[in-house]
This record gives sequence, C-alpha cells and structure tokens, in this order.
Amino acid sequence: MSQKKMKTAIVGYGGMGGWHADHLLKSDVAELAGIYDIKEERGKLAESRGIRSYASYEELLADRSVELVTVAVPNDVHEEVVVRALKAGKNVICEKPVALTLESLDRMIAAAKQSGVHFSTHQNRRWDVDYLAMKQIYDSGELGRVINIESRIHGSRGIPSDWRGEKRYGGGMLYDWGIHLIDQMLCIFGFENLESVFCTLDHITNQEVDDGFRLILRFKSGQHAIVEMGTYNFIAMPRFYLRAEKGTALLRDWREETQVVQCTHWHENEVLPVQLAAGLTKTMAPRDELTTKSYTVPRPTADVHDYYRNFIGAVRGECEQLVTYGQMRTDLKVILAAFESAEKGGFVAVEAEK
Ligand SMILES: NC(=O)c1ccc[n+]([C@@H]2O[C@H](COP(=O)([O-])OP(=O)(O)OC[C@H]3O[C@@H](n4cnc5c(N)ncnc54)[C@H](O)[C@@H]3O)[C@@H](O)[C@H]2O)c1
Repeated sequence: MSQKKMKTAIVGYGGMGGWHADHLLKSDVAELAGIYDIKEERGKLAESRGIRSYASYEELLADRSVELVTVAVPNDVHEEVVVRALKAGKNVICEKPVALTLESLDRMIAAAKQSGVHFSTHQNRRWDVDYLAMKQIYDSGELGRVINIESRIHGSRGIPSDWRGEKRYGGGMLYDWGIHLIDQMLCIFGFENLESVFCTLDHITNQEVDDGFRLILRFKSGQHAIVEMGTYNFIAMPRFYLRAEKGTALLRDWREETQVVQCTHWHENEVLPVQLAAGLTKTMAPRDELTTKSYTVPRPTADVHDYYRNFIGAVRGECEQLVTYGQMRTDLKVILAAFESAEKGGFVAVEAEK
C-alpha cells in the first residue's frame, strides 16, 4: 500500500518558494498544504494559482495536518522562522545557506533535537548533472588518482539587485553560490578529508559583500580543489576541469558531455617540437592518438525530487538523512574560514565533520 503524501507548507513565497511550490505540486512523496509570506501580494499571487495562503505564520504552525515546513526566506531570517517551526514540532527543510554563523546553526540543531524532529538544508545542487559527471569520473577511478578539480560558475551581471547585495540580509556570493559549490566538492573528496582553505574575494560591483570569490580547498589526502564564482566575467571559463594521474577531464558547460583524454603511453619516441614565441619546445608539443585515447562521457541523469524523497524517508525512519548536521556545519565552517582567509591572508584550518 502506498504511503500518504507528507503535508508540506512553505514559508516565503518568492523566487525559491515558488520553485518549491511547483515541485511539491508534482511530488510523489509530499503534498503542498499552502504558503505563508509576510508580503500580502505574494499570498494573493499564491491564491490566484489555487494555492492556500495562510493568514499568519501562527495559523500555518497551528495547522496540525502540516508535518513539514520548507523555509525559503532571505538568509538573515532563517533562524527565527526555522526555530519557531521546529519548536512547534514540525520537520523543517531550510534553504541554503542554512545559517550565517555556527552559533545560529547550532541553535537550530538544538531545537530540532529537543522537539525530536528532522531538520535539513536544501542542498539541491547535489543533483546537478555537471557535478554528477565529475563525481562519476572521480568515483569510477578510470583516470586513476585525481590530483585536483576546478569548479567555476561565471556570469557577467553582478549580484542580483535584491537582498543578496546587502550584508545585513546575509548577501554575497560565498553564501549564495559558495555553499553549493563547496558542498559539491566536499561530497566528491569527502567531508572529513578537508584540511584547510585559502580564499580571495571580489568587490568589483559591490563594496559591501563579495560579488565573486576564488577558493582553494586543501585535503588531508594531498589533493586540492579550486572553487571559483564570478559575476564580472564577460568570457566564462569551463564549468569543471579535472586532472588525474592517467588523464584530464573537461566539462565546458552543464549542457555538454564531459571530454576525457586518457594517457595510454607516457613515453613518446618521436616528439615533434612546436614553435612558440620564445622558440621551439617539445615540452608543450600536443599529444596525438598514438599515446592518448580521447572520448566523451554522456551526461548522467538525476532527479532533484530525490532530495524530498530522502528527507521524508528519513522522517519516516526508512533511510538516513543525506544532508547531515556534520555536513551542514562543515559547509558553513568553510565559508567562515574563507572570510577569515580573505581578511588575514594565508590558509585557515577547518575542523571537518562527516
Ligand atoms: N537552493 C537553491 O537553488 C536556491 C536558489 C535561490 C534561492 N535560494 C535560497 O532561498 C531563500 C530565498 O531566496 P529567494 O531568491 O526566494 O528570495 P526572494 O526575495 O525571491 O523571496 C523571499 C520571500 O520571503 C518573504 N519573507 C521575508 N521574510 C519573511 C518572513 N519572516 N516570513 C515569511 N515570508 C518572509 C519575502 O516577502 C519574499 O517573498 C534564500 O535563503 C536563498 O539563498 C536557494
């Protein structure tokens, strides 16, 4: 017999609240009970789409049929909204970044434990096909030991002209995109493997919060990752670049397939030198098919609904919650260490958790 869908209400019916509503309306495990937004016009918009709009947050929390609350309000309001829902005995999914400080996150975790409910953050980009393509190559071991992976997101329109541009709302690109890109890298290399981070921040179009960053994650295994986000890049660099002992992988764009060049023979007999501005060089001469094998890896498939399926399964005791408290704390620790590194210079150690 199929289980009843879990009644879910959304707090904050803006851009991402709308995304959750659309997904919940199609979900096989959850059912949209309604939304609450402090802005009346957002409630009216929901109603015009046939979605119930609660008159107040109190009314939403008092609805005993609601078992799960998804929080999609600006970053600075997460704690207040999340803790109230947890204290009311609701399971809670909070948008990312779950909190702006570790103390704030720990207060939410404590409230969840006290109420005996489940709490998690929406790391939906664990289902992005570009990231999964890199993870697949890493996990398959087909290129041997991975030396490093570079992950980049480049745009040219600055920070969106909303609360993301202001510090008091928890704006800036490290909190906005960094939390996703860092989480992806830690899922590939292992959360507990992380040792330290180094970061520089951009302030090109915004002096108050970072409008881009360049972050190095150094791992205990000797590997490293580069995570870069830019909003002033009129030519975008490839999305992913991976170097390993047996070859190189490149993913230019999430819509494309991953290109791989594997080294089949390390030594070459007759290397033809190439002419560079500084003279002839064999070191930089391109390889041919006699010593390499080139192929593309098809895009993996993924279903982001699996995030809700996992969370609701965990609430029902059927599986383990994928996004753990240790991972949520480690993702946030990386961001805080990145700010510290950018301010003081040098690598900052991170005590990672699983
Ligand atoms: N996971 C993702 O891919 C992803 C993508 C975009 C945004 N987000 C996250 O979602 C959250 C919301 O971002 P957004 O882009 O939807 O912002 P938004 O400004 O479009 O929407 C926020 C909504 O929350 C409402 N709101 C503010 N305070 C409230 C309160 N106390 N109670 C009820 N409603 C309140 C606002 O009126 C607004 O309608 C942020 O944390 C953001 O980082 C996540």
